[in-house]
Amino acid sequence: MSHEYGDSTRCVKAGLPPATPGQPFLPGPVFASTYPLDPSGDVNAIDSYGRTHSATRRHLEAAIGELEGGSCLVFATGMAAVSAVLLTVVKPGGRVVLPEDGYYKTRSWARTALAPLGVTVSAAPTAGPYPDLTGVTLLVLESPSNPGLEVCDLAALAESAHEAGALVAVDNTTATPLGQRPLDLGADIVMASATKALTGHSDLMLGYVATRSPDLVGAIGSWRDSTGGIPGNFEAWLAHRSLATLDLRLARQSENAAALAAALAAHPAVRNLRWPGRPEDPSHVVAARQMQRMPGVVTFELDSADAVARFLNASRLVVAATSFGGLHTTADRRAQWGDDAPPGLVRLSCGIEDPADLVADLTVALDHLGALDTLR
Ligand SMILES: Cc1ncc(COP(=O)(O)O)c(C=O)c1O
Repeated sequence: MSHEYGDSTRCVKAGLPPATPGQPFLPGPVFASTYPLDPSGDVNAIDSYGRTHSATRRHLEAAIGELEGGSCLVFATGMAAVSAVLLTVVKPGGRVVLPEDGYYKTRSWARTALAPLGVTVSAAPTAGPYPDLTGVTLLVLESPSNPGLEVCDLAALAESAHEAGALVAVDNTTATPLGQRPLDLGADIVMASATKALTGHSDLMLGYVATRSPDLVGAIGSWRDSTGGIPGNFEAWLAHRSLATLDLRLARQSENAAALAAALAAHPAVRNLRWPGRPEDPSHVVAARQMQRMPGVVTFELDSADAVARFLNASRLVVAATSFGGLHTTADRRAQWGDDAPPGLVRLSCGIEDPADLVADLTVALDHLGALDTLR
């Protein structure tokens, strides 16, 4: 599809077959594990078995691939995509550098599962400094990082990694392909959880990998075909249906993030506010240069775990829940999951409610916190 179209047009049209009289815009999910074969035909010419073939998956892959600007493979979850990339690209004796402050499961999984296979696993903070990349097989970046919302210069890091002979994989979960196109910035691989804003309704699990390298598509695709980390066809169809509204959802989430970040910045109970959309934020300059839009996630700190619980109990609109990118505004105290974050750190995922309602609710909940503290 032409890149001259706007984001919403691209999302509405992505991956759809040409409109055909009497047919749905998006073909329904193909519920098949096995398909009839032609006894005298070529088994490789048709869909034969669900682990390897699904027209529903192909439609979704065409859609996400168009948005990321590469070939896409969808997976059952984001972690299935991340682990497929790492296990395919990094072999025993190889070296991987991961974000020290990115999604904690990627790091903990790599240390538990890759290190015993003879892979050297090290970590670097997203904002740098980065180690000498000589001898590194794969540099994994996550920008903006979850939960700290640090940003790194993807084009500059891709260039130095390539000079050192390393491949670069970028976790694009928080930005989504409408917020940032890492393949255009020089990354070799995009990997992401589509469970979050990409599908955005808190009703399915999904991951994907996108790349422009036919060799990597072949290797990671063959890994998926053999290990079986595919999404179900209903999830794939539901994800494709949800993708059509991505631009609208992100626009409101980003508007809400801007409004809530301003309210949080003005409140005395709040510390260490991070949102790359704020001109005061340390990541703003790089984010504004390489991102097309700012995420709907804001991170901040309250005094303690107890203060976070009191804030959430006092709010009528912010729901305590993990994950992010959904329709409902939610907040997650990251330390409760074992993430190496301060006890009062909150990752706020802005939904699509009305900005004025959210600002009023959040302000009352924060004021309530202050009022209780005064009574103590
Ligand atoms: C940045 C990032 N990458 C990957 C994942 C893993 O995705 P999933 O939960 O879909 O397996 C997550 C989940 O929170 C995430 O935040």
